[in-house]
Amino acid sequence: MIRSVIRGCGSALPRTCVTNAELAERVDTSDDWIVERTGIRQRYIAQDDETTSTLATEAARRALEAAGMDASEIGLIVLATATPDHTFPATATQVQAALGCGGGIAFDVAAVCSGFLYAMATADAMLRTGMAKAALVIGAETFSRILDWEDRTTCVLFGDGAGAIVLEAQDVAQDGPGILASKLHADGAHKDMLYVDGGPSTTGTVGKLRMKGREVFRHAVVNLAEVLKEVSADAGIAASDVDWVVPHQANSRILDATARKLDLPPEKVVVTVDQHANTSAASVPLALDVAVKDGRIKPGDLVMFEAMGGGFTWGAALVRM
Ligand code: ACO
Repeated sequence: MIRSVIRGCGSALPRTCVTNAELAERVDTSDDWIVERTGIRQRYIAQDDETTSTLATEAARRALEAAGMDASEIGLIVLATATPDHTFPATATQVQAALGCGGGIAFDVAAVCSGFLYAMATADAMLRTGMAKAALVIGAETFSRILDWEDRTTCVLFGDGAGAIVLEAQDVAQDGPGILASKLHADGAHKDMLYVDGGPSTTGTVGKLRMKGREVFRHAVVNLAEVLKEVSADAGIAASDVDWVVPHQANSRILDATARKLDLPPEKVVVTVDQHANTSAASVPLALDVAVKDGRIKPGDLVMFEAMGGGFTWGAALVRM
């Protein structure tokens, strides 16, 4: 059977790391408050010369290197972002140009924190129908550019970064590697709980992120528990068979609550929110790369990806590495 197989992954972070203590020098907050409510200890913030496309390109180069592949073999780039370099062209096309692999398909996907799950499912469908043989799926963000640095309830929560995987269509056995199942959802009724208050067609400005944190928290735990059950059922896999969960890194309390609802031991959950904060679409591939590079996730492991974000949008995917 034809499946999309993860050949390699990579990630990139801005040069500048900002600890909670450093943030507390310019925002009315404290290391204790941030750690206790979110688990975040530091985040990386892009400087002027670092953009979503430069971070994405670096992550993509590292994913290609890990896959042992050349950019010329990539026929499809799907890039998830809510903070593109420009309103258009798509940031994916800028990455394509920087990698020097023009001619194939390249476009962006906007599903905010679930963007990487949406991008991976889209690339998977396109690979399995033969539209390309190999794809780069990238999540990349510079959320620091859309934060209201006067709003302590949101600005402490986010960071910048990028992560990428190389997916390749391969003919594999039933118990072989690849994406086994994915599920995506959206419910536009909840826009006002998490949104950016600007845009080209409304205010003509970029806008700033606005969030009702408590309501987002409540919806995230319920929606994620449900979608994880759906994907496990689709793939015919029990939650206890999953080797690793690589979740969207919004907040350690959401991660703990979701794991508890599913009876998953916390040591199976890859946590990087302490190091990177919430990097939106970049957080899942960034966390994957950390756990692959430190040797936790190995070939053959069964890995669950999950995310929920503005819209609301949410989704999950089960992958054999
Ligand atoms: N530093 C210090 N104090 C703060 C800060 C801060 N950065 N932010 C808020 N406070 C204060 C508030 O002013 C309030 O003070 P008051 O009681 O005197 O009015 C107090 O802390 C409690 O504020 P709440 O907003 O009620 O705090 P809560 O316990 O709900 O925690 C948080 C806030 C961390 C945002 C929580 O609601 C949460 O985790 N929500 C999930 C949202 C999330 O993670 N979103 C990410 C994007 S969506 C996604 O990726 C899924």
